[in-house]
Formats: sequence, structure tokens, C-alpha cells
Amino acid sequence: MTVFDKSIAGRRGFVPEPCDVPDVSLASIVGEENMRKTPAALPELGEVDVVRHYTALAKKNFGVDTGFYPLGSCTMKYNPKIHEQLAALPGFLTAHPFAPDEMNKGCLRLMAELREMLSAICGMEAFSLQPAAGAHGELTGLMCIAAYFEKLGQTRRKIILIPDSAHGTNPASAAQAGFTVRSVPSGSDGLVDPATLKKAVEAAGDDLAGLMLTNPNTLGLFERHIMEIAEIIHGAGGLLYYDGANLNAIMGITSPGAMGFDVVHLNLHKTFAAPHGGGGPGAGPVGANKTLAPFLPGGGQDSIGRVRAYHGSFGVLVRAYCYIRSLGADGLREASGNAVLNANWLLSRLRGTIDAPYSEPCMHEFVLSAAALKEETSVSAMDIAKGLIDKGFHPPTVYFPTIVPESMMIEPTETESPETLGAFVSAMLDLAETARKNPEALHNAPVTTPVGRLDATAAARKPVITWSI
Ligand SMILES: Cc1ncc(COP(=O)(O)O)c(C=O)c1O
Repeated sequence: MTVFDKSIAGRRGFVPEPCDVPDVSLASIVGEENMRKTPAALPELGEVDVVRHYTALAKKNFGVDTGFYPLGSCTMKYNPKIHEQLAALPGFLTAHPFAPDEMNKGCLRLMAELREMLSAICGMEAFSLQPAAGAHGELTGLMCIAAYFEKLGQTRRKIILIPDSAHGTNPASAAQAGFTVRSVPSGSDGLVDPATLKKAVEAAGDDLAGLMLTNPNTLGLFERHIMEIAEIIHGAGGLLYYDGANLNAIMGITSPGAMGFDVVHLNLHKTFAAPHGGGGPGAGPVGANKTLAPFLPGGGQDSIGRVRAYHGSFGVLVRAYCYIRSLGADGLREASGNAVLNANWLLSRLRGTIDAPYSEPCMHEFVLSAAALKEETSVSAMDIAKGLIDKGFHPPTVYFPTIVPESMMIEPTETESPETLGAFVSAMLDLAETARKNPEALHNAPVTTPVGRLDATAAARKPVITWSI
């Protein structure tokens, strides 16, 4: 039932005092023709009904504050609440971007220090904090690459190579920045094969602009040929773009700069514990080495210009700053170490029950394939995912990366305890047993939620994003 269905004409949650300011006709200011002809259909409810409505909705929701959320690639790690409190300090909360710099000195200093810390973590020369999300960071970084080649007069360099394991935003951003995308097939070990890459680079010839790479990649594997890959790309006059969405696996251990990348975006909402998802503000800062730094937003006369109003998502930047300061260099390294340890522990407990397509240890996440299980029992990756909901867990990412059939991508993150991981293993083993004994039960899962299995394809293809009354 929507809040509109609960509306009762005339019911009020708040009645203001009579106003002693003289009435002004809005129509005389905006023009009669711009006024609504009928009043807006707003719900009318008492305060307690509104509170109960939204509390009931919130209780139906699942979040990292309610349970384990191993959504691979998305890094749903727990965000310590202290950072929320710090971001809500009045000096941050009430800062106005139009206030004179003297009044915003603390905020400006925080952003300058954050840029320095991110540069140190990534081995980059400079950072821009403007981009609003990972994908926006990708677009910004690629625009810097385009501007660089334009300045060199090499405007035919328009081909960006992207491995077939990449996140979908990579080719989308490259296309949006005006590049032509060529996919590079991964080897049977899930990694970029230097020989295959060389062929793609030769085929691109003088049109090569560069390579976009995530390391560790979206299969949770470390691209161990990275130094050779960097040499191949740079040797052909191209540049290396680092999709930093998986930086949470390598913080303080290695860096994009050390691996030879020229430009990088970070997802603060993945690695640096800023709030995640729900359409809220994100932040995808972009860092660049000496070659590309002048092209960053705010980078001087070669800059691509502003990509976001004011200073970006300032509240998110405060949370990331506090996270980095409270963990310190050793803490960041330890966080990455624990993320990798948790993922490997889970992988080693699960690989005997559900196939793991790659034999080597993983980084911060790993991919399982339910293809054999489906063949044997008719229970798919989707059925297992829905069965996990009935057991109180958020499902892992399923059917991505697309190069693994019936894939389930699991990312436990560093913030989970051995008990939680153990409970998840028990749930998975239980589901595999149910698949063999009573597959029908899983085809119908979930059965404990407010709504049963939804038609995800219809929801994506024919979204109904408004209410009808
Ligand atoms: C590997 C990878 N790259 C890029 C992105 C895009 O980031 P955002 O969702 O902040 O736009 C994601 C998001 O999940 C990702 O996992």
C-alpha cells in the first residue's frame, strides 16, 4: 500500500501558525499561464501514520546494517558510524560553496589533504575530487586522455581496448568520451594474455588511445602481467587507464602508479567506506600522473574544465577523509589484507561444493559457476541467490562477469567476522544439498520476503517508476 492509498482528505500532520506576512499572488510573479490548473494530489496523513508507513518500508529493506551483503564488485562493506557523525559536524554540514574562502578554510584544507592522501595511495601526481561516481570518474579520466592526444595533434588515436571481463561502465564511458571500444578476450586463466593484447595493439596501430583495466580484475584475479601490459601499451604510444573500483584489494600494498597506470578513478563508496547505493551522492575522484595531471578538472590552461558543480559531493569526501585518517597507512593495508583473506577463506570452503572456474587464489572477491550444479539438479545461480535471501543473506552478484556461465560473484569485504562467514558457508552448503534433494523448493525461493520472485527482466525493460492513484 502506498502512502497515497492511505491518504484521508483533510488529515494533517502539521498545522502552521497563522502567518502575519501579507499574501503575495504567485500568479502575478510567474504568470497565470504557468500556474497549476488543478491542485497537486498529495497524500494527507497524520504524523504518526507517516512515521509508521516509512518505518514499515524500512523494515522490509535489506542493507549492510541488517545483514551480510556479499555483492561482488560492489564492495558493500560496513561504514563505521563515527564517520557519519563527523560529516554531520556543523562546520561541514552548514558550509556553503558560495561562502568566501576565508570562511571555508577548514573544508578547503580537508579537500587539499584528501587529494594529497589519494595521490600518495595511488602513486599519482594530482587528484580532482569533482566526479560524482565511478562511471563519472571514468568519463572524466577518458576525457583527459582525449585532450592529451588532441594537444599532441594525435587526434586519430580513438581506439580504447577493454578486456571482456570489464565492468559494463568501462565501454559505456569510453564510447561516451568519443572513443571506439575494442574488446580483448581474457585467457583461460581469466587474465589478460600479453600475446593476445599485442595482437589487438598491432591491429589498432596508430589509432590506439589506450587500455582500460581493473586490477584485480572483476573475476577477483590479479593481472600479474601488468608490467608487461603497461610496456606493450606505452610502447605503442597509448595510455593506461586504471578502473580503481577494486583498489580495496591492494591499498598500501601496491598502487596504480607502481603498476604503470597514467590515470585512475576511485570509488570512494567502495574503498573508503562512504555510503553506497540508493541513488545517493557518490564520489569518483580522478588521479593522474605528471603527463595527464594538467588535463584534470582544475588543472590549469590544458584542463578539460569543470565536470561537476562546486566541490563535488563534499559530504562524501568528508567521510572518506575521516576513514583514511582513522585507519592510517597501516590500517588501510590491513583492511586490504583482511578483504583478501576473507575472500580466500570463503573460496576454499565453497570450491568443493560449487565449481570455481579459476584454480588460483583470489584477491578480494571470487567467482563461482553454478553451471554444473544446474546441469545436475536444474537449480541455477539465480535459484541459489534467491534461496540465500530466505536464509537472511543478501545474494552475491549473479550472471556477471558474463564470461563465466551461471556466475556467482562473492565479495565478503574485510568487515565481516569469521562467525558471519561461517554462517554463510553453512547456508551455501545447505542450499547445494536442497538443490539435489528438492530443487523445486529453490525454484520458488524466496518465500519469506514481502514479495516473492520478481520478473527482473520486465522490471528492467518496462520499468514502472511512478504510482497510480
Ligand atoms: C569494476 C567497476 N568499475 C566501475 C564501476 C562503476 O562505479 P559507479 O557505480 O560508482 O558508477 C563499478 C561499480 O560497481 C565497478 O564494480
